[in-house]
This record gives sequence, structure tokens and C-alpha cells, in this order.
Amino acid sequence: MCGIFAYLNYLTPKSRLEVLDLLVTGLKRLEYRGYDSTGVAIDSPDSKNIVMVKRTGKVKVLEDAILEHFSGGEYSEPVMTHIGIAHTRWATHGVPCERNSHPHRSDEGNGFVVVHNGIITNYNDVKTFLAKRGYEFESDTDTEVFAKLVHHLWKTHPTYSFRELVEQAILQVEGAFAIAVKSKHFPGECVASRRSSPLLVGIKTKTRLATDHIPILYGKDDKKLTSDQVLPRSDSTSEFMPLEEKEVEYFFASDASAVIEHTNRVIYLEDDDVAAVRDGTLSIHRLKKSLDDPHAREITTLKMEIQQIMKGNYDYFMQKEIFEQPDSVVNTMRGRVRFDGNAIVLGGIKDYIPEIKRCRRLMLIGCGTSYHSAVATRQLLEELTELPVMVELASDFLDRNTPIFRDDVCFFISQSGETADTLMALRYCKQRGALIVGITNTVGSSICRESHCGVHINAGPEIGVASTKAYTSQFISLVMFALVMSEDRLSLQQRRLEILQALSNLADQIREVLKLDSKVQELAKDLYQHKSLLIMGRGYNFATCLEGALKVKELTYMHSEGIMAGELKHGPLALVDGSMPVLMIVLRDPVYVKCMNALQQVTSRKGCPVIICEEGDEETKAFSSRHLEIPRTVDCLQGILTVIPMQLLSYHIAVLRGCDVDCPRNLAKSVTVE
Ligand code: F6R
Repeated sequence: MCGIFAYLNYLTPKSRLEVLDLLVTGLKRLEYRGYDSTGVAIDSPDSKNIVMVKRTGKVKVLEDAILEHFSGGEYSEPVMTHIGIAHTRWATHGVPCERNSHPHRSDEGNGFVVVHNGIITNYNDVKTFLAKRGYEFESDTDTEVFAKLVHHLWKTHPTYSFRELVEQAILQVEGAFAIAVKSKHFPGECVASRRSSPLLVGIKTKTRLATDHIPILYGKDDKKLTSDQVLPRSDSTSEFMPLEEKEVEYFFASDASAVIEHTNRVIYLEDDDVAAVRDGTLSIHRLKKSLDDPHAREITTLKMEIQQIMKGNYDYFMQKEIFEQPDSVVNTMRGRVRFDGNAIVLGGIKDYIPEIKRCRRLMLIGCGTSYHSAVATRQLLEELTELPVMVELASDFLDRNTPIFRDDVCFFISQSGETADTLMALRYCKQRGALIVGITNTVGSSICRESHCGVHINAGPEIGVASTKAYTSQFISLVMFALVMSEDRLSLQQRRLEILQALSNLADQIREVLKLDSKVQELAKDLYQHKSLLIMGRGYNFATCLEGALKVKELTYMHSEGIMAGELKHGPLALVDGSMPVLMIVLRDPVYVKCMNALQQVTSRKGCPVIICEEGDEETKAFSSRHLEIPRTVDCLQGILTVIPMQLLSYHIAVLRGCDVDCPRNLAKSVTVE
């Protein structure tokens, strides 16, 4: 949902062309967050003005425009201190076009320019306020009001510092945002802030920093703007000791993948932090002090490697991520599952296990693919925990004002850890006293930080917009949790051993399934011109049907439906004829006979389904000429092996249909708006 990137070099000579290159590279790393239009703002060669370039389309279009626009030698002169800001957009207010692209400006003179991720919900009120004072708006966005509000405050409060101006503007806006602001009136300074949308600051210095903490400065006022009111100045306490380094570079970004090639030292900003750089000094300020505020923000060392965010020899990130699964599932289990002693330790939740065992029910909450991982593991969780397990879509859960109790344990599953609906549901449950468990792939994300405890799925960065390896790692994390919960149940020991044994073979079995790639590609050639694809299964494989259909929809723009095979005769069977493409998952598990009934219902309506079945299952294979065979595993892990052919199939159909695999239309990876 939009990517923000800003770069500030202090006493570190860089030409504007180098700065532009850094900004464009940063945007490329964030492109998964939105890719309908882009823009950058840097200083003009005389440093008196701000120059902006914006384009509709992906970062590549912007890059070409920059090459064209900034060819002059004056842009190759090194500058000691400079700040550039950049943005890649996923449209919420106003269609994708240059006029609506960020950065947005305060006035014709580009006094203040802003990049923003999120939604300012009261933008209409602020717009009316500013319009009455003569401001004219040039875009349909909510963001533009912020730039103009800062300008209004600057005119009415000429003594305010840049940070104070931005702080005062923040106090007037509602909703979600991560912003970075640049101004020609405050050269070499940058102010950035967040509320509900992610933002971090990367710090690169020549020598190691003297401290790993940035102390926090507090303000006192929290006043709202009323019609003609003069805004009060926010006071600050004096307990502030800034980070002072001579030569320093700062990177403000929506996520760590945009800074890792420059530095692994980052500060994750919290809601309502205002980070400001002035004279090369970073300060972090809070608008008002609350009781649970820490005294400082810690500098975190990222563990991510640059190769993890590169495509390597693959054509697409999604393809790379599908093929990484033999390793990513092992990384999820690494240090947690001891196959020799049949023991599992989940360090992030182990202290909470006694409390979880006493709970009234487990609730698994997420969106999209993350929700499907909950559907996939629900049955095993019910079996091994002997607790009621509810599986909820975060958006629907909030619409219903679902009753939540103090003795509920609520799991929030999210690859990004930033999905707005999931985060809102988390806060809703936390307010009602439930124990909050985060299952995320992004260390330092909002869901991570706001959970009482949790499990990092450790799948590594997932960049393709369609989630693949995160799904299998979420799946395994929940299976591991079920195993932990059943550790001392004598009657379940045989079942646990069977699952542990299957987990130890899983990476090799995934490698086997990936060998189906060329066969799946052939199948994709048969299917890619069709309008629709029905995917049927039940029991442990129903989640694969939902997830497979989601992958097909989002990547290929074909209609696809995941159908619970038991529901076939209650309606969907009417869709089946000799021309409707159908894929059925029929494995040798407790619902095999029921799946065979469904298969026969389809074939007797002239349907010719593609069957996903177990290796060597001749009896099932006899029902169709087209099948994909997967290795045999324990019933509750089948979903990991059956989803991989679906990931490959959607990938190949998308390529054949000429779709942009990593950036499907209308979507973005991190959905930070409700
Ligand atoms: C589908 C997909 C989405 C996400 C959903 C939740 O391939 O990626 O459905 O699963 O937007 O995102 P996270 O897991 O980041 O909360």
C-alpha cells in the first residue's frame, strides 16, 4: 500500500544523479507495495528549489524519465548534504495519474513536499479549512492536504522549526499514515512520522555509533485545529541527547528490504514518533508522553541478507519463492523442532503455554492467504489441543463486533505484520483482554510489536505480491504450535510421532513436488485460454482449494473457485459440463471415499477433472487421463504438498497470459488500509 523512501546524506558528498539512483533503487525494492505511479523530489542544482519527477506506471517508467530529465552535467556535481524523497503508489484516493502521484506539494513554489502511505480520514475537513484560507488543490488525493497544512502553519508560525510544523500538522490529521517531508525552507532537513503504517530509519555511519539508543523527546500538547484558532507551540522536555555523528547517511523506508543494501542498522519507528534530522542529527520526538513509553528507541541490527531480496537466476520473485520452499520450511523449524528427541520449543510463546492451555478457545484471524493457513490447520489444532478453534477473516470479524473474552487466545497471522484489518482486529481483541499471539514473517512489524507473544515464521523476505512460501511456513508454525500443546497428552503421542516423522521428510518431499514443474507448465498450456477453473477437495485439502483459487484469480485474472467437495451437490455441480476445467484433490486419507464420490459426480456430468493424487494410486488415476502425483505424507501435512502444484499452475498460467507475475493488477503486497 504505497512505498516511501527518503535519503539524506550529511557531509557525505553525493551528486544528485547518485541520489536519484539511490531513490530509484529504494523504490524498486518497495515496488511490491504499490506500482501504479511513482515520483521523486530532489533539490534543484542551485539548491534553491525542489525539482519533482512523477510518472504513471511502474518504477522503470520513472527511471527512464529521470535519465531523460537529468542528463545535464550540473546534476553530477557532488553535494555535501542533501535530502531526496520518493514514492511508489497504490491508489486509494484518485486514479493513478501524474497529478495524483506523490510527492505532493504545498504550493506552486514547492515549499514543502510530502510522500505518504496510508489514508488521512479527515482530509475533507482539513481541505475545507485550507480552502477557506485560499489554498487550491491540484490532485484528488488525501495527501495533498498534509503538504498544504504544513505550509499554512509555516506561514502563520514563522518561528516554528520544521519538526514543530510537521508535528502540529500531524496533530490535526486522523487516520493512518507514514510520511516523509522535505522543504526548500529547511534545506538538508527531513521530518518523518508514522501512525499505523510502517516506517523505519536506516543509519549508515563510517564508524560504529557510540550508542545503540536514540533517546526520546516529549511534547506536551495535543490540541485540535478549530476554525480560526492559532495553534499552540508544543513544549519539549530537556531530557534529549541526540545521536551525533559527523558524516552520516539516513534512509527512511516503509520496510527493511529498501535499506539492507546500504546498512543493517535500523530504528523501527512507533506510532506517533516524529523523527527529524537537522544538521546531521537524528532526534525522535513524541507528541505526548504516555505511561508505557520507553525512554529510547533501540537501533536494531537486521539479520536479512541482500541476496534474499534479489531474484537471482529466476524470472520472477514468485517463482524464486516457490522454489525456495524446501529451505524456507526448514528455516521455520530450525532450532525449534528436535527430531532426535521428538521435542519442540517455540521460544516466543513458551512462557505463555500454561496460560494458553487454560483458555476458553483459540481464535485464528487473518486475511487472504494468511487466513487460508488457519483454515488448513484448524482440524489439527482441534485434534491436538482439544479446544474449540474459530477461524476468522479479520475484516468480517470486525464488521460483526465479535464477542471476545479475557480467556480467549487470539492468533493474528500475517506475512507482512502490517495488514490493517488484521492489526485492527488485534487491537480490538487486546482491548478486551484476550492473549494476543502474533504469527508473522516480518520482524519489527506492527503485529509483532503489539502481540503479547508470537512465532516468527522465518520464511525470509517474500517480495512477489502473491504469497507462497509464507503460506507453507505459516502452516508449519501452526502445526508446531499444535504439537507443543499436545506434548504431555499420552493418548496423542503416537499421532505426534507420526507428524514429527513427516515433518522431517517434508523438505525432500517438497523437492519432489517441485519436479512436477514442467508437467504443470504443460497443464497450464491446456488451461490458460479458459475463462474459469474450479478447484475441489475436502478435509485437510479444502484450504488448498481456497488458496489455489486465490492464486489463480490474483495472478491470471481468470475466474477461479475453491469448492468444498461436500458442497458440490448443493449447487456448484450445476457449473460442471464437458468444457468446464476442474481440478480435484483426491488423496488416501479419511475423506478419500467421499472425495471419490465427488469425483464420480463430476465425471458422470462429462467433467474431465485433473486429479492431484498420491504417487502410484492407480485406482484414482484411472478416473482421468490428467493427473499430478505427489508423495505420500501424513494427512495433516498433505496441504503443504498439494498447494505447491497450485502455486506453480497459477504462475505458469499467468506467464502464458502475459500477466505481470510479481505485480498483479490492482493489488499490493502490504495492505495497510482497511
Ligand atoms: C495472496 C496474498 C494476500 C495476503 C493478504 C494478507 O497471495 O498475498 O491475500 O495473504 O493480503 O497479507 P498478510 O499476510 O501480509 O497479512
